[in-house]
Amino acid sequence: MKRALTVGLVGAGRIGRVHAENLAYRIPEARLVAVSDVFVAAAERLAAELQVPAVYADYRAILDDMSVEAVLICSSTDTHARFIAEAAEAGKQIFCEKPIALDLLKIDGALAAVEKAGVKLMIGFNRRFDPNFRRVQQVVAAGEIGTPQILRITSRDPQPPPIDYVKVSGGIFLDMMIHDFDMARYLVGNEVETVYAAGEALVDAAIGEAGDVDTAVVTLHFAGGALGVIDNSRKAVYGYDQRVEVFGSAGCVSADNNYPNTATISDAQRVHRDLPLNFFMERYTESYVAEIKAFVECVLNDTAPPVTGLDGRLPVVMGHAAKRSLHEARPVKLSEIGI
Ligand SMILES: NC(=O)c1ccc[n+]([C@@H]2O[C@H](COP(=O)([O-])OP(=O)(O)OC[C@H]3O[C@@H](n4cnc5c(N)ncnc54)[C@H](O)[C@@H]3O)[C@@H](O)[C@H]2O)c1
Repeated sequence: MKRALTVGLVGAGRIGRVHAENLAYRIPEARLVAVSDVFVAAAERLAAELQVPAVYADYRAILDDMSVEAVLICSSTDTHARFIAEAAEAGKQIFCEKPIALDLLKIDGALAAVEKAGVKLMIGFNRRFDPNFRRVQQVVAAGEIGTPQILRITSRDPQPPPIDYVKVSGGIFLDMMIHDFDMARYLVGNEVETVYAAGEALVDAAIGEAGDVDTAVVTLHFAGGALGVIDNSRKAVYGYDQRVEVFGSAGCVSADNNYPNTATISDAQRVHRDLPLNFFMERYTESYVAEIKAFVECVLNDTAPPVTGLDGRLPVVMGHAAKRSLHEARPVKLSEIGI
């Protein structure tokens, strides 16, 4: 039998819990051996539920724990870059939630530490592991729709986040559209050169007062000429709306929303169905399992991580370019931000 990878979790919050449960129940190739959280009661609760032997208040204890081979960094965004650098220096293999940081210099520092230590780093762009989007990517990569010409991504949340989050998150382009920027590169298989953003606060005036927008459309110009459109809304009244389409010289491939069931209800007035799965915890369940499996496999088989540090950095560059584009009302080249 193949050995199981020993994993330590930093951050026992919302997403940390998802990964911990997947490790405990769905990924036999790995074993969760330690959990840490500054809010130690959260770590203790999770560890007790999942029978994890070690609990620490200080994440550094996980780095000092010789039984831990790999760490999952699931703490708040502002801790990621520092924890990546320290975990790399401690020789741990690293999975880190997106984004690495909002500041590109901090990202570069973390990536340099990983490079120096020669450890693996995978970034949690989980949507790449969604079975529907993955299939779309395979079709495009296999040339089945010819040369990609137009990409469309619709990504709308069921409700806006709390206003306190909006104030510190970096705004819609860095906390929400960042996933779509990654999806754009992943689906088209090419780099974006220019972004042009339009945005308004149509959902909640308080978001506008906080200096952000809640409704945004960004056009993308890829190297090689393909065009893309991403639209985001903080509030779709019918729930979580997540669709993609790639149109090319020889055809088109698209993926619709996921629904809790396939029942169609027909009555004297209309034909209708239940709403799409509501928000990321339900919609992307399978992707979270598949991404951690992929991380564990790349460590155990000593292969390259499927989502690299550079994959983590580029969507942040795109987010900053979109912000500048909106404020200056002009197309912005990513080279202006610093690639
Ligand atoms: N890929 C995705 O779909 C996805 C979804 C949600 C969150 N995220 C990312 O995951 C990260 C966490 O988000 P969340 O929603 O789980 O937040 P959360 O607030 O629910 O959890 C964060 C946890 O980290 C802990 N923490 C903070 N500082 C720490 C430290 N120094 N050491 C140890 N623990 C510390 C907090 O106490 C908290 O329990 C964010 O960076 C977010 O962007 C990604």
